[in-house]
Amino acid sequence: PTRGRFGPLVGAIDEGTSSARFLVFAAQTSEVLTFHQIEIEQKCPKEGWVQQDPMDIYNAVIQCIEKSVENLIKLDIDPADIVAVGITNQRETTIIWDSQTGEPLHDAIVWLDTRTAETVDALLADVRDKNQDYLRPLCGLPMSTYFSAVKARWLRDNIPEIKDAMDAKTCMFGTVDSWLLWKLTGGPEGGLHITDVTNASRTMLMNIKTLQWDDTLCKFFDIPKEILPEIRSSSEIYGYFVNGPLRGVPISGCLGDQQSALVGQMCFQQGQAKNTYGTGCFLLYNTGTALVHSTHGLLTTVAYKLGKNATPVYALEGAIAIAGVCFRWLRDNLGILKSVEESESIVRDMTTRSEVAFVPAFSGLYAPYWRKDARSVICGLTEETPKAAIVKAAMEAVCFQTRDIMDVMNQECGIPLRTLLVDGGMTANNLIMQMQSDLCGVPVVRPLMTETTALGAAMAAGYAEGINVWELKGHQGVPKDYFYPTITEDERDIRYSRWKMAIKRSLNWQP
Ligand code: G3P
Repeated sequence: PTRGRFGPLVGAIDEGTSSARFLVFAAQTSEVLTFHQIEIEQKCPKEGWVQQDPMDIYNAVIQCIEKSVENLIKLDIDPADIVAVGITNQRETTIIWDSQTGEPLHDAIVWLDTRTAETVDALLADVRDKNQDYLRPLCGLPMSTYFSAVKARWLRDNIPEIKDAMDAKTCMFGTVDSWLLWKLTGGPEGGLHITDVTNASRTMLMNIKTLQWDDTLCKFFDIPKEILPEIRSSSEIYGYFVNGPLRGVPISGCLGDQQSALVGQMCFQQGQAKNTYGTGCFLLYNTGTALVHSTHGLLTTVAYKLGKNATPVYALEGAIAIAGVCFRWLRDNLGILKSVEESESIVRDMTTRSEVAFVPAFSGLYAPYWRKDARSVICGLTEETPKAAIVKAAMEAVCFQTRDIMDVMNQECGIPLRTLLVDGGMTANNLIMQMQSDLCGVPVVRPLMTETTALGAAMAAGYAEGINVWELKGHQGVPKDYFYPTITEDERDIRYSRWKMAIKRSLNWQP
């Protein structure tokens, strides 16, 4: 293979909820030279339970790396040009493994999983007014089934082997980034037990001001500090691959996937925001160095800390649990879609007018409601309702949930978002993008390069001290598509009020 044809290359491991990917970027142009992707099986052994085998996650990452390296060779590009690798990952998903053997002590509990509903109730039982915002001043997050500490506590309470290992401090806790970093840098033989600030900020165990594990929080959840990884910045050399085709290559970037997309979209200025449509949907608003505490259900989270001594930047986040995954449900559970991609044409071809509203609350409702007891509802059906109307309502649900978040974000941040910057797999669907613009009443802006999640991790890795191949300001002004609102304000208001009525029903389902 020819050396240096594209200049220095940077790899990105992107381990999302549905699949693992490895992408290779040319640092000088941000161009993706090759990638490989493998779907990860989700196991649902009981209603509301979602788990994955940590070894499946790791093996899929390894295979993606191997395949991508093979592809590079076929393209006559020297894999030795890869100078660094970054990691970005589904956040909150919790893994506990034996520090001696490296064996996972349980499947990973995926962020979407709601088995911890009773754990949440038990933890709140002694809290004044059962206030789910009780820990917000310390960690920026409400008590919810979503975050890692609650999942770790469930594992402690329900898996005796894990309780024993926690008490004996013979296990390690990690989100997916930590698990991969530890495995890739040697596992039981000297693997590094590390996480970055963005991932740590989703555990409920990190103090959002000091960016260190917090004694009060660890005590509250009864999780020993000794089993937690060391918290590092999002851009620094953590360690090196010990095996495989990338042996000796530094790992120097790490960000939770939503924060990584914020970086990939170049939202480095206070007031810039992006919305990523994946399994769920996540709107992050850069609040600069200011830590803004939400009173309307948004999360306070670390956006990035690009360097050991860099100042941390914060974000307000609106998290929606169910976006893309709803179309998988329509395909796999209801069988009304042959493929997820078919959704666009099926709705475009619909001739009847419909007034169906669909609130997909499979994991309860996240922001801004934070109601684990919310249930899904589909309303407005008639005898004439075609299946396409349900698909359309699912699309609108993604857009309306984004509108819910935008409205509270505009209230809390003072300066309304004048455009919505988007990315993620679902943004390939032009119909959803047009609906999003219509239902929010602002232009939606989609970069032509939609791999922004992986790009953010690659940027962080290439920018790290000692690597220095990525100039963060260098890639502004990338080509974009625009979608402008096409409906009147009156129509927008009528449709949104129907959504709000459906939300009320979803919140009042339980007897
Ligand atoms: O917080 C969960 C989030 O990180 C998952 O992202 O892209 O898998 O929907 P995604």
